[in-house]
Amino acid sequence: MLKKYNIAVIGATGAVGQVLLDLIEARNFPYNSLYLCASTRSVGKKLVVNETEYLVEEIKEELFNNVDFVFISANNEISKNIGLLASKKNCIVIDDSSVFRMNPDVPLVVPEVNAHALKEHKGIISIPNCSTTPLAMILKPLHSINPIKRVIVDTYQSVSGTGAAAIKELNLQSSEILDNLNPTISEYPHQIAFNLIPHIDNFHENGYTNEEMKMINETRKILEIPDLPISATCVRVPVKIAHCESVNIELSEPIELETVNNIFSNNKGIKILDNPLKNLYPTPIEVEGKDDVLIGRIRKDLSNKNGISLWLASDNLRKGAALNAIQIAEEIISNNYF
Ligand SMILES: NC(=O)c1ccc[n+]([C@@H]2O[C@H](COP(=O)([O-])OP(=O)(O)OC[C@H]3O[C@@H](n4cnc5c(N)ncnc54)[C@H](OP(=O)(O)O)[C@@H]3O)[C@@H](O)[C@H]2O)c1
Repeated sequence: MLKKYNIAVIGATGAVGQVLLDLIEARNFPYNSLYLCASTRSVGKKLVVNETEYLVEEIKEELFNNVDFVFISANNEISKNIGLLASKKNCIVIDDSSVFRMNPDVPLVVPEVNAHALKEHKGIISIPNCSTTPLAMILKPLHSINPIKRVIVDTYQSVSGTGAAAIKELNLQSSEILDNLNPTISEYPHQIAFNLIPHIDNFHENGYTNEEMKMINETRKILEIPDLPISATCVRVPVKIAHCESVNIELSEPIELETVNNIFSNNKGIKILDNPLKNLYPTPIEVEGKDDVLIGRIRKDLSNKNGISLWLASDNLRKGAALNAIQIAEEIISNNYF
């Protein structure tokens, strides 16, 4: 009989946590006990998974005595404290935050790209930033046949990447503005409704934001190309769900578009949506709720014989977070990487 596991979800009431619960149900994840935790604000709240009602609990140390997998989607502080605690108690921690991502002892995994890294795990596994994941997914198969020389990426990131509170803020600001009221601003340094903000996370001294540096460093780690030349500009846009990216890739040699299409068509987790003459290309609304990364606008870079440009869209709450996390757990189970 299929073995079942005890699971704790830390941050079960959040934007990612809610999608994770949907996916546990939709993917028939094999669980026995399910413990749902959030902040004290949510303790006692009822959440339903597989038609069973669960009460949201406070995080207690004893919980981890009886748990196999801990999914953490809360914040950096909780990840750090609870991640270390749970892994000391022999739980497998799959963490969504950035705290462990660049730790050499922690695999940073997108199963379609580097599932092999899971063999080396020491109890904590990180998922990448939600914009890094789709980028790594498209770079890897190209790099395998025609090594990448340089990448320039610009992102268009939805507010759900910031969390549930930012979705509420976009809704609120939109209605306030339409009612000729001053918008309430708390999640971002500027109004996000009817605007865009080229600023995600803190600025570093080099002029790049932390989000941009995460994309650069995490992509290098996942692809195992520590010196990959890559530049990123990350922009928050007034979209609820899904991140888009405009990507320019310089390869070692020229490549035919037919070859690019074949490569992407044969890769799990990627779907091509590319018929501009019929107005077919990826959009946030098109990809919302979907597992695959959608790619379109695939074209030659007219300024560089070895270059291609493309556009992608990915559901940041699914492949950018909850889906990737659950796929990691499934990979551990199917390969017995305990
Ligand atoms: N959103 C994305 O696209 C995305 C993608 C990749 C990674 N991540 C990472 O995933 C994590 C969660 O993101 P999110 O967007 O889901 O954020 P969110 O919507 O703000 O949800 C945060 C969750 O953490 C809980 N929480 C907050 N403080 C807590 C505490 N002291 N103790 C226990 N639980 C606490 C919240 O509970 P309450 O409801 O009770 O406040 C809520 O369940 C973050 O580390 C983020 O960086 C997010």
